[in-house]
Amino acid sequence: MTNRPTVQTEVAHLQRSGRDTSTIPAVLSTWLSTVMQGGLKPEVTVESSVDANGMSSETIILTGRWTESGGAVQRKWVARVAPTEQDVPVFSVYRMDHQFEVLRLVAELTDVPVPQVRWIEPSGEVLGSPFFLMDLVEGIVPPDVMPYTFGGNWFADATADKQRELQDATVAVLAELHAIPDAAATFGFLLDADPPGENPLRRHFGWLKNWYDFAVPDIGRSTLVERALAWLERNFPDDVAAGEPVLAWGDSRIGNVLYRDFRPVAVLDWEMATVGPRELDVAWIVFAHMVFQELAGLAGLPGLPDVLREDDVRASYQRLAGVELGDLRWFYVYSAVIWCVVFMRTGARRVHFGEITKPDDVETMFYHGSLLRRLIDEEA
Ligand SMILES: Nc1ncnc2c1ncn2[C@@H]1O[C@H](COP(=O)(O)OP(=O)(O)OP(=O)(O)O)[C@@H](O)[C@H]1O
Ligand SMILES: [Mg+2]
Repeated sequence: MTNRPTVQTEVAHLQRSGRDTSTIPAVLSTWLSTVMQGGLKPEVTVESSVDANGMSSETIILTGRWTESGGAVQRKWVARVAPTEQDVPVFSVYRMDHQFEVLRLVAELTDVPVPQVRWIEPSGEVLGSPFFLMDLVEGIVPPDVMPYTFGGNWFADATADKQRELQDATVAVLAELHAIPDAAATFGFLLDADPPGENPLRRHFGWLKNWYDFAVPDIGRSTLVERALAWLERNFPDDVAAGEPVLAWGDSRIGNVLYRDFRPVAVLDWEMATVGPRELDVAWIVFAHMVFQELAGLAGLPGLPDVLREDDVRASYQRLAGVELGDLRWFYVYSAVIWCVVFMRTGARRVHFGEITKPDDVETMFYHGSLLRRLIDEEA
């Protein structure tokens, strides 16, 4: 990420979120001595913290140092800490245990590169919020801030061939995840908290409606979202939804992958992982780029129109997964609504922390609003 906050600003951020960072090293050191084998008690240093775009969980980079068999050992870890209610979280529930388990299972069942997970503290009693530790992986991410489509970053400045190499290697990640057999049995726990429904997509759609309802009180209603939800209901893809579900990564964006030499070295950010149609991930990866293209357009920039085009992604996916996808429009609308609710929550957070005043119309925060209107035929 660009704009990586300094330790100082992050310490301020963590204090804002109610955690006393000065005690983190000692607290983690003691906790590690209870989970690491051999009675080790590492010395812990907080290196920095990544607030990415301030969207979801806190990401803290740590170093652990200890002596083992007479030798000095040093390891870098990343802690993912669930936000608390005072942080005005994006989601109503954070299942760190689910993220930990998905990462563990993906490592076990596929060759998709994911950070190795180490230990989880699910009770919230150690840091005030549940968290887990995973290994730090060296790599770079196409930036969200400023959006990679704005240019002036390693991805935008790369040759078209290199961009395509990265794109295809990322679509290959989707194909490989979707090839895990019996996803519903192995990853069914991801749907545990979703409302009942006749298939996973119905249940996820129920979750989406509840999540929108959760977002409304802090920031206001959006009639656009409500019309889009009604459109999704009217056009619900019963056939696709009845098919064999796959493990969907959920937040399948190139901005959630660490790359080295244009190849994925760590697939990150599993908090939206679910079980459902493969279209969820394929549409999301294309749509996320569309949103970034909209942002570039709003800034008067050309963006990267040749990157992540639907036809190319679809063809690569078909070649790699051996599955020809149907029309993705429903899933684009679905993705667009999810982006709306994310913007509602990040907007509510910014209002809460005094960064902006509450807008009269929540829809002014939907940078992709006209894209959504076009998708549901409200705009030419
Ligand atoms: N295991 C890891 N190794 C190295 N860096 C990591 C690791 N996990 C996370 N990061 C860094 O933290 C950033 C944010 O991680 P992630 O996308 O999982 O969090 P997030 O809070 O969901 O962020 P966002 O909301 O911006 O997507 C990544 O872009 C990456 O720079
Ligand atoms: Mg992320």
